[in-house]
Amino acid sequence: MNYIFKYAKKYKKDFTLAILFLLLETFVDLILPTIMSFIIDNGVKNNDLDYVLKYSLYMLIITLLGTSFAVVRNIKSSIVSQSIGKDLREDLYIKINKLSASKITEISEASLITRLTNDVNQIQNFAHGLMRIFVKAPLLGIGSIIMALLLDRTIGLISILIVPIVIFTIIINLKLSYPIFIRIQKSLDKVNSRLKEYLSGIRVVKAFNRYDYEKKRFDKVNEDLKKVSISGMRRLAIFSPLVTLLVNLGIVVILWVGSDLVVNADFEVGKIVAVLNYMTQLLFSLVMSTRIINMYIRSKASSERLDEVFNAEETLNSPDNPLEINKNDTVLEFKNVYFKYFDTTNYVLENINFKVEPNTTLAIIGTTGSGKSTLVNLILRFFDPNSGEIKFYGKNIKDLDLKKYREKIAVVPQKNLLFTGTILENLRWGNKNATYEDIIKCSKIAMADEFIQTFKDGYNTYLGQGGVNLSGGQKQRLSIARALVKNPELLILDDATSSVDLITERKIKEGLKRNLSTTTILIAQRITSVMDAENIIVLDDGKIEAIGTHDFLLNNSSIYKSIYISQLGEEVSNFGA
Ligand SMILES: Nc1ncnc2c1ncn2[C@@H]1O[C@H](COP(=O)(O)OP(=O)(O)OP(=O)(O)O)[C@@H](O)[C@H]1O
Ligand SMILES: [Mg+2]
Repeated sequence: MNYIFKYAKKYKKDFTLAILFLLLETFVDLILPTIMSFIIDNGVKNNDLDYVLKYSLYMLIITLLGTSFAVVRNIKSSIVSQSIGKDLREDLYIKINKLSASKITEISEASLITRLTNDVNQIQNFAHGLMRIFVKAPLLGIGSIIMALLLDRTIGLISILIVPIVIFTIIINLKLSYPIFIRIQKSLDKVNSRLKEYLSGIRVVKAFNRYDYEKKRFDKVNEDLKKVSISGMRRLAIFSPLVTLLVNLGIVVILWVGSDLVVNADFEVGKIVAVLNYMTQLLFSLVMSTRIINMYIRSKASSERLDEVFNAEETLNSPDNPLEINKNDTVLEFKNVYFKYFDTTNYVLENINFKVEPNTTLAIIGTTGSGKSTLVNLILRFFDPNSGEIKFYGKNIKDLDLKKYREKIAVVPQKNLLFTGTILENLRWGNKNATYEDIIKCSKIAMADEFIQTFKDGYNTYLGQGGVNLSGGQKQRLSIARALVKNPELLILDDATSSVDLITERKIKEGLKRNLSTTTILIAQRITSVMDAENIIVLDDGKIEAIGTHDFLLNNSSIYKSIYISQLGEEVSNFGA
């Protein structure tokens, strides 16, 4: 409800028009049976054909009017409800962008997709339903009762009696169905989550012949969804017919009392017909209400799920009064940084201290799981350290405007991700103003130009989702070119050349040195990748084991020395083979 009113405000004009036409439509529905009773009691009874024709014409005109009101109301309510859906999706999208990485993990990506689509749909449907019967159902109900009372008091009273019984049924239904609908949305999350994992890992599933296993896991969540949905629908299934039954019983009573009146007193048949008509309208309005209440229950469950996202704390926000970024002679500094992903687990990074000077390269080498990518996550401020400070040009990154800060950094992530679209679009991704020449230049440095040129469509080659139609090394080189196009002040390469052969890697490194004087943080597993760097950090289980130049580390770091020997040995034996 809150969401609907909040967003409907923006479409005040259309919303008001929809309600206005709904009122007119209700008014038409309410006067028709009375005109009908006039025709029967005054025209038909007295054989007055002129009277019958005249009033029939009135009925025709009013019905036509009613239909056109309904058409306008339908158009307006669609516009409003679709716009509400669009706005909600948009705001949700913006909010998701502000959530911390850990919050997104907590809610799960699949569930966010369900919320963005199905949950928003539920609210949108309810908004549409609301404008169809928002005022109509109660007005039609109350109006019918008043009109029936005006025609005959006894019969009118009988119709009043039905209402509290029906309202009671509605309340019971509300209590019973609500928890089920929460469960339905949760089951839907699980189906989406399985599907998402399956689709992204479909090649692995095939390679490992795990189709049957995955299928079973999918069948289980799919079956669960079916079960809760059926149990929810079952509760609703009894409900609408129950209301119909109650009102029909009322009609039978009215017929019974009414026929008695016609036989024993001077009561007109036209009135009975009209009252029955009003009873049908009352029935209609009550059934409509049950339907809208069903929609309400579903949308209430959904809006709580949206609340959870909208109310989630934006842990990583820009401060209210961010500091300006002014260059000085230390680009990046880590000061006594400690970090763990969850409160309950051990530190992933402990007591990290280092500085990166302008136009130098800091390399980080360390075994898998030693915390290298985590360090990158902290630099990008996906997470904040538990203690210690990270400074950019001497200022704590928490005090900087997040957007402006991230604009100065480009990263080639370890798990490189390209987006659906052409190569050119992907390269321009971080810098929409880049010229074609810039892009070619950066692609040449990243050794991407050479393979792009071999494609039939060159830079306009269309990439599938995640760049599926490229090899691992090609993706990495595009990813590097994309970072260079951003023209950053700090370039971070997280294992960016791991899938590239040694010769190409060397060419990329030479190109970077020759063409750019960018401060770089380079993470790698190979000694050959890091040995030229001004400073090398040896990371071991989240701690800095040693820091210095290649020559210094060969003499002072046992870990560095053993990596050197093992890799050199490997290369020697490779040459031998
Ligand atoms: N999102 C996360 N949530 C919880 N723990 C995580 C998360 N990401 C990484 N870790 C843990 O943090 C530790 C360091 O991981 P990290 O990815 O930083 O290693 P790495 O040095 O980059 O390894 P690799 O060389 O394999 O890329 C690992 O023990 C890992 O299990
Ligand atoms: Mg890593």
